Amino acid sequence: MRILLFGASGWVGTRLAEHLSTDHEVIGVVRSAPSSPVAFTPLEVPDWVRSPHTIAAALADRDLSVDATLAAVGGWYVDGPMLERGLESFDTDFDTYLRAHFSACTVAASLGVGTHLALNGVASIEACVGSGAISVFGAGQQMLIRVADAESETVDFRELTILAPLHGDGRNDLDGGVETIGIDVVAESVARILTLGTTEVLTRLTPPNAPQSAPSAPVQPAHPG
Ligand SMILES: NC(=O)c1ccc[n+]([C@@H]2O[C@H](COP(=O)([O-])OP(=O)(O)OC[C@H]3O[C@@H](n4cnc5c(N)ncnc54)[C@H](OP(=O)(O)O)[C@@H]3O)[C@@H](O)[C@H]2O)c1
Repeated sequence: MRILLFGASGWVGTRLAEHLSTDHEVIGVVRSAPSSPVAFTPLEVPDWVRSPHTIAAALADRDLSVDATLAAVGGWYVDGPMLERGLESFDTDFDTYLRAHFSACTVAASLGVGTHLALNGVASIEACVGSGAISVFGAGQQMLIRVADAESETVDFRELTILAPLHGDGRNDLDGGVETIGIDVVAESVARILTLGTTEVLTRLTPPNAPQSAPSAPVQPAHPG
């Protein structure tokens, strides 16, 4: 299977490409050329979020078709309260956390792939203090996928929500014994959803010992996503 990966330069994207490339061909969409060896074929499209049609053109230039699309776009910050960060920050976060996913969905639809899979994190189901805009747009991202799936007659739009920090990502604050999930577990789920499909629009990955219901009160963030 040939997979088009958005967010290929990120912590998750880089490692997912390493796992997936053992059985699949991975084309990684990047805004700038990688500075070290990577496990994907880079497709350099600097402003793909604002001009998603340029991706189809770049693929056509290389005579490449793709079977599935995978979006590992996002990132993480902990800062002041969302309303105090202001409108400019909110607009920037909109680009990163929601517009990017909207554009990736439009690329999936225009390429006519079988499945588009978007990754999301715990912020999409919890009101994370200091990362509030990520929660707002993460929740919006989930509905984006559900609407896109409901409206599409050809593409299966799916989301994999990773409800824990990833093991080995040094940016995570693991104070207090926070449980982690291995990137190999994520890669396995991704490969299964892309190759075998799933009738579930939303799949949640939880660490082995986590309680199954999510808290609804605001939480202090411990990890990305
Ligand atoms: N890391 C974790 O522990 C963890 C845990 C749970 C869920 N997740 C999920 O995994 C996904 C990826 O997270 P990550 O940790 O890999 O984040 P990351 O290391 O910060 O990487 C983010 C990726 O998104 C791209 N990106 C960000 N803003 C963009 C924009 N405006 N336009 C185009 N590309 C943009 C970045 O490209 P550039 O390199 O060009 O900036 C980079 O490839 C997210 O959905 C997150 O919720 C991660």
